[in-house]
Amino acid sequence: MSAPLDFYLITDLHHYAHSLGITGEAYEKKNHREQLCLAETGPIIDAYIDKILEDKDTKIVLVAGDVSNNGAMESHLDLIPRLKRLKDAGKRIFLITATHDYYVEGNDVGKPVKLVGAEEIPAEYTQREQLLDLYHEFGLDEAISFHEESHSYCVQLQEGYRLLCLNDDGDRTFCGYSKDQTDWILGQIYKAKSDGEYIFGMTHHPTLPPMPLYPVISIHDMLGDWDNTTTVLADAGLELMFTGHTHMHNIGLKTTEKGNRYYDVNTSSLVGYPSNMRKVRIDDNKIEIHSISVDSFDWDLKGMTVDEYTKHHFSFMINAILDAAAEDIERFADLAESFSMRHEQTYKLKAPIMFVGKGLRKWTLGSAGKLLGVSKYIDPSVKDIVARDIILELIQNAFRGNEPYYPDTPVYIAVSAILDKVAKILSHFKKTKDIVPVLDALKRTFYNAEPDDYELTIDRKK
Ligand SMILES: [Fe+2]
Ligand SMILES: [Fe+2]
Repeated sequence: MSAPLDFYLITDLHHYAHSLGITGEAYEKKNHREQLCLAETGPIIDAYIDKILEDKDTKIVLVAGDVSNNGAMESHLDLIPRLKRLKDAGKRIFLITATHDYYVEGNDVGKPVKLVGAEEIPAEYTQREQLLDLYHEFGLDEAISFHEESHSYCVQLQEGYRLLCLNDDGDRTFCGYSKDQTDWILGQIYKAKSDGEYIFGMTHHPTLPPMPLYPVISIHDMLGDWDNTTTVLADAGLELMFTGHTHMHNIGLKTTEKGNRYYDVNTSSLVGYPSNMRKVRIDDNKIEIHSISVDSFDWDLKGMTVDEYTKHHFSFMINAILDAAAEDIERFADLAESFSMRHEQTYKLKAPIMFVGKGLRKWTLGSAGKLLGVSKYIDPSVKDIVARDIILELIQNAFRGNEPYYPDTPVYIAVSAILDKVAKILSHFKKTKDIVPVLDALKRTFYNAEPDDYELTIDRKK
């Protein structure tokens, strides 16, 4: 019997130092393309730190990577004193870094900049190797084993409990574990088991899909070879992994062919929508996972709650993209760059983009159902819902977690009848056949697969 283990977990702090610029045209432009808060990150992080400090009994805090905005050195140097407040109060922090924490010279994406008036000027960037020194006191100094190539380490959290802090940032083209790293991980799991200790992990990239559509549209954001890797880990005896990166709040479960369970507890960004941290207790019988958010932070929230404020910021960009698709192709091209669509590509697709953009505003579930001959599946209570609103809500719900539209709800029945009919039509043509599985994944994204994404108790004896 060992004493229960208690800890907090925060992730994707994406801290943005105010010295990089929080006013002016260039800042406004960047802010409008951001799904996460930018100038507000410091106050939000401080509010969560205050909340953790109120809890005198819990001594451990995990941080799952992407701690800075694009690896600007100024952001790291502004974040570290904030984390030190936790240390000074006797907390132990175990932190990993990820791809947003450094920059590789010559890369087109993620270059840290300072925003001065309308200008973007290069900011001092952080190299991957520098992160080891910067954050050494936040976990690495307690390592009982260190995997140098990947910057991964293993720690003894307390008697009976070990944590694998797995860095999976690769070289920005591949995230995942090398053969050598995998061997080291399996060695650590084996060692913990043979010493009679419970071992679990933390890694930045999602190891199970946070929503069915995720691997279809963002496969490169998943941990490399995720399906096979999680089977190997689960069969070796690791059942619990904490992840970040997606900015979505989700808990995923898979059971391997050999019957071993594996949970991925994916936590939303502290500075995004929804803003949450996890509070976890593990004892000999069970694992209890809770979600906690702050009630306020030191910022003008314009009369909104924290949840409304982060949601407003999050939806602003999606609304802007949907509006631009209908009205302004140049603005759309500009915004589409933030999800890797090039200007030329956008202009080439101008006609279909604007057709769909305009259509989304006027098509309702009722009119689409009529057009496709599936009216009998469209309940009167949902027939006036506009396609654009469904899309916006689907995206918000996917990030928020516990997505509500289960297969017996009128929205799901209507949407699935429409999507099934579209899939049937597309399956007849060679060019569009490949879209059919995407539509199926889209349908499954309307509701939450078990388990609950916010509050979960796992029976360890099962
Ligand atoms: Fe990330
Ligand atoms: Fe992130």
